[in-house]
Amino acid sequence: MRKIIKRRCDCTFFIEFPFLSERTKRNIFAFIPLYAILYLIATKLHLLLQIIIYQLITMRIAFVGKGGSGKTTLSALFSLLIKEKNIPLLVIDADINMHLPELLGIQEVFQKEMHISHPDAVKAIKTHLKDSNTRIKELSHFRKTTPPTKESNLIFIDNKDDVIINSFAKKNGDLPLMIVGTYDTDDIGASCYHNNLSIFENILSHIADKNEIVVTDMVAGVDAFANTLHAQFDLLVLVVEPTKRGLEVYEQYKELAISAGIYDCLFVLGNKVRNESDQKFIENHIPKEKLLGFLKESEYLRTKDQEGGQLDIKKLEPENIDLLETVFNKLKNTSNNNQDRLRKLWDLHRTYVAQDFIKERFGDLTNQIDETFNFNDYIKE
Ligand SMILES: Nc1ncnc2c1ncn2[C@@H]1O[C@H](COP(=O)(O)OP(=O)(O)OP(=O)(O)O)[C@@H](O)[C@H]1O
Ligand SMILES: [Mg+2]
Repeated sequence: MRKIIKRRCDCTFFIEFPFLSERTKRNIFAFIPLYAILYLIATKLHLLLQIIIYQLITMRIAFVGKGGSGKTTLSALFSLLIKEKNIPLLVIDADINMHLPELLGIQEVFQKEMHISHPDAVKAIKTHLKDSNTRIKELSHFRKTTPPTKESNLIFIDNKDDVIINSFAKKNGDLPLMIVGTYDTDDIGASCYHNNLSIFENILSHIADKNEIVVTDMVAGVDAFANTLHAQFDLLVLVVEPTKRGLEVYEQYKELAISAGIYDCLFVLGNKVRNESDQKFIENHIPKEKLLGFLKESEYLRTKDQEGGQLDIKKLEPENIDLLETVFNKLKNTSNNNQDRLRKLWDLHRTYVAQDFIKERFGDLTNQIDETFNFNDYIKE
C-alpha cells in the first residue's frame, strides 16, 4: 500500500507540487478518507439541518372555535408565517365557509371534484392510500379509523410527485391547499358534516410526518371531537373572542378535550382584543398556562376584509406577528411522536369497529391493524 502511494506521489504530485516534501505528500493521501467525509458533510449539510428540524418541529396544528371567532384568518396568517420560514407545509380547509383560498392568494377555482369529500375524490383517495393493503377487503371497509400498514401508500407533503397532493391541492407557489368541501350544497349546515370529515381523517392518518407542518382551519363547533380528528393534531388552538359566549366555548372544549385525553394539546388564543379590559376579561377566565396570547383588533385585517384578496403577513402589525411566532414556538416545542399517534389511532379503531352496526355490516375489522407497522421504518425506506 505504501509503495502504491509512494509511486503515485512520484509520478503525479512530484510534477505538480515539486515544493512538497515526500512526507507531506504521503500525509495528503493518508487524509483522503477524512477529506471525503468532510466533503460529504458539507454537501449534505442541508439534510442534516432537516434532521435537526425534524426532531424539533411538531407537525400538526388546527385552529378551532366558535363561528366568526377568527379561525380562517389565523389559519391563513399562520400558514403564511410558515411559508416565510421555508418550512414545507400543507394547509387544509375543513371549514364549511371556504375563505382560505382567497386569503392565501389561490386564484384557481376548486372544482367540486377537487373537494376531498366529493364521492369521486373519496374513491380515488381511498384507492390510492389502500394500494396493496390486503387487510382492507374492499373500499367500503376503509373506515375513518382504518390505519396505514406496510402495504399502504403514505402521503409525503414535501414530495413534488405525491399523487394526493398533486391531484387534490391547489397551490400558491410552495403553499398547497386542500379543501374538504361540501360536495352537495344541500349538506351545508346538515348535522352530518362530520361524515365529510372522514376522508380528511384518512388523509391525516396516512401522512408520513418528516419535517412538514399541517395547518387546518376547522369547521366551527365541536366536530373535531365527533371523529378521531382530535387524536391527529399536536396542537389545537381554540380561538376565542373576549365575550361571555367565547368563554363558554372554552369550557365546552375543555370538557371534551379532557374526556378525549388530549387536554395537553389544547391552548387558547384571544382574538379581536381591543384594549386592556378585553385582555383582562380573557385572562380572568383562562388558566395562564393555557393562554398563548392575544391577536389584537387589527386595522390591517379590518381594511383587508373590506378590500378582499390575499393577506400579506408583512403588513400585519408587529405585535400580531409576535403572537404568531409564539404559536409557532409552542408548536415546535410540543412533543410529537408519530408512532404514539398511530397507537392512539389503533385504540380508536378498536373502539369504533366494536360497534354493533359496524360488525353487522362489515364483520370484524380489528385485523386492519398491523402492529408491526412503524412509520419511521417506512419513512426511511
Ligand atoms: N384580529 C382581528 N382584527 C380584525 N378583524 C379580525 C380579526 N380576526 C378576525 N377578524 C375578522 O373577523 C371576521 C371573521 O373572521 P374569520 O372568517 O377568520 O372567522 P372564522 O372563525 O373562520 O369564521 P367562520 O366560523 O364563519 O368560518 C372576518 O371578517 C375577519 O377579517
Ligand atoms: Mg372560517
